[in-house]
Amino acid sequence: MNGLFISFEGIDGAGKSTHIDALAQAIKTQGKVVALTREPGGTPLAEQLRALILNAPMDAMTEALLVFAARRDHLQQVIAPALARDEVVLCDRFTDATFAYQGGGRGFDWDVLSVLEGWVQAQAGPASFGTTAAGLLQPHLTVWFDVPPAVAAKRLSNARLPDKFESQPVDFFEKVAHGYARRMAAEPERFIRIDANQAPELVWKDVAQAMQTRGVLLPC
Ligand code: TMP
Repeated sequence: MNGLFISFEGIDGAGKSTHIDALAQAIKTQGKVVALTREPGGTPLAEQLRALILNAPMDAMTEALLVFAARRDHLQQVIAPALARDEVVLCDRFTDATFAYQGGGRGFDWDVLSVLEGWVQAQAGPASFGTTAAGLLQPHLTVWFDVPPAVAAKRLSNARLPDKFESQPVDFFEKVAHGYARRMAAEPERFIRIDANQAPELVWKDVAQAMQTRGVLLPC
C-alpha cells in the first residue's frame, strides 16, 4: 500500500474537525486524492454501530468490541482500498481513541485492547493474528489536538445536546488525555502533538507547519 494514512485525535471539545476539513482542502489543492472519513463510522455498518456506541448504555468491554467491529469493517471497505489507490486517508479518530477512551477513560484492560488491535489491524490476514505490532495497519501519522480538559468542557457546554461521551465529567477526560499521552510515549515518531489551547487560526498554523515538515503539504 502506497497511500498515506493520517489520524486525528483529541478529547471531545479539542476542536479538531475544522482543521481536518481545512487540511483535506489544502491537500486536494496540491493535486492529491483525499479520502476523508471518521471513526466510529465511515461505512454504512460502522455508522449504525456508531449510533449505538454514542448513545446506548453498555459496559467498557462491549464498547471496545463494538468500536473494533466498526473499525474492521471500515478498514476493509474504505481505508485499505483507498491506501491501495495511493490516496491520502484522513481519519477523524482511530485506535488511539479506543486506548484513550475505553482504556484510559473507562479503565478497560490495556492488554486486551492490544490483542484486539492485533486481530483487527493485522495486515497479513488471520495467520498473523496476535503477532507483532510490526504487522499492523496503523496510521503513518497521528495528529493529537491536546487541550486541557477544563477548557474543552467549557467549549462543549456551548455545544449541541451532548452524547454519552460528551456528557462525561472533566475527570473522565483527564483520564482520556493520559491515555493519549501513553500512546504517544509508546510511539513518539508517529505522533504530532498540537497545542489546541490557542485561537483556531494559530492551531491551524501549527497543523499546516507540521504537515509541511512531514512532507504532507508542500511549502507555500
Ligand atoms: P467524534 O464526536 O469526535 O466523532 O467522536 C465520537 C466519540 O466516540 C468520541 O466521544 C470518542 C468516542 N470514541 C471512543 O470512545 N472509542 C473509539 O474507539 C472511538 C473511535 C471514538
